[in-house]
Amino acid sequence: MAGANPHVAAVAPPPIPEARLWPARYDGRLGPVLDLTQAVPGYPAPPELVARIGAAATDPESFAYGHITGDAALREAYAADVNALYGGDVAPDEVAITTGANMASFAVTMALAQAGDAVMLPVPWYFNHQMNAAMLGVAVVPLPCGPEEGFVPDPDRAEALLTDRVKAILLVTPNNPTGAVYPPSTIARFADLCRRRGLALVLDETYRDFRPADLARPHDLFVDPAWRDTVVQLYSFSKSYCIPGYRAGAVVAGAGLMASLTKILDCLQICAPRVGQAALAWAIPALASWRDGNRTLMNARGEAADRAFASLEGWTLGSRGAYFAYARHPFAGRPALDVARDLAERIGVVTLPGSAFGPGQEEYLRLAFANVEPAALVDMASRLSRRD
Ligand SMILES: Cc1ncc(COP(=O)(O)O)c(C=O)c1O
Repeated sequence: MAGANPHVAAVAPPPIPEARLWPARYDGRLGPVLDLTQAVPGYPAPPELVARIGAAATDPESFAYGHITGDAALREAYAADVNALYGGDVAPDEVAITTGANMASFAVTMALAQAGDAVMLPVPWYFNHQMNAAMLGVAVVPLPCGPEEGFVPDPDRAEALLTDRVKAILLVTPNNPTGAVYPPSTIARFADLCRRRGLALVLDETYRDFRPADLARPHDLFVDPAWRDTVVQLYSFSKSYCIPGYRAGAVVAGAGLMASLTKILDCLQICAPRVGQAALAWAIPALASWRDGNRTLMNARGEAADRAFASLEGWTLGSRGAYFAYARHPFAGRPALDVARDLAERIGVVTLPGSAFGPGQEEYLRLAFANVEPAALVDMASRLSRRD
């Protein structure tokens, strides 16, 4: 078609729908399909939240457009939540509510970089971050990050790879796809690097509510009021509140970037969906202990994933954290896509190939263990150990 955008055409198709087709060829002989593809909580939203959503759905207010950057009640509740966890003084007008964290990262990338600029992403990366940049004509400078460093990126290596075109470094912690939780000291060093070099540090903390219980504060960046010149934080309500279909995410940014984001979000969303916003304003304080309980539950699932892989010959866990395990498969030399497709079709274990997360990832598969009960991970290990 005339005028088709070559930047969009060059981006690979979304990997999850493709992976979801594979189990159609599985004959079911080992039991139901174990779907470890998309990160979705394997338990429902609590009944009180469902009731709030029901009430909000019929409230006339929900039928009207809302504020571009979100309803005041939710921005206040989210700012208070961030301040309680990170010890800062984020103001409600430094929060924008978006139609999910993916819209947040698209808007932030657009606000920070123009075509011809670049952003730095550790590899393996979250594929939508690479797709955002590529579609905007923004180059990606890969920051290699492997098992020898626990899949935690190295700020010194990042600095060595910076070019004048790089406008932002985008980190995901806890990480998708590896699950790695970056230590506060590493995040602080990235912030220092970005401050020195006049870059933005974008932290996608979609999985922060599932970080291990012993890490009290994900980082200290918000304690220093100067965060506003450098730091941008992304968050998703999808996993923490089990409402991915209601599409709600958040950006925390200083006034300058917020002014740009407001223009972009006006075009992309006009306002985020109001039903979820109304329910979440209540849920953030009211469901604090429920959220914390889920952290414990997810950590137990993570430990079940550790045990499952420890029992498996040939497989190793490259990394495991909040929601994901990044497993090294034993089929040396075989492309990850082939391995993932074969496991889905032959034994009904559906994963994403490492190749979906950037170059050099052919030895890995990503498993979203959060989706299933520990018993299913025992079942998974028994299927993976089969030789037929
Ligand atoms: C790192 C990361 N960011 C953002 C998202 C998307 O979140 P949302 O559903 O809020 O758009 C995901 C979902 O898988 C994710 O893994």
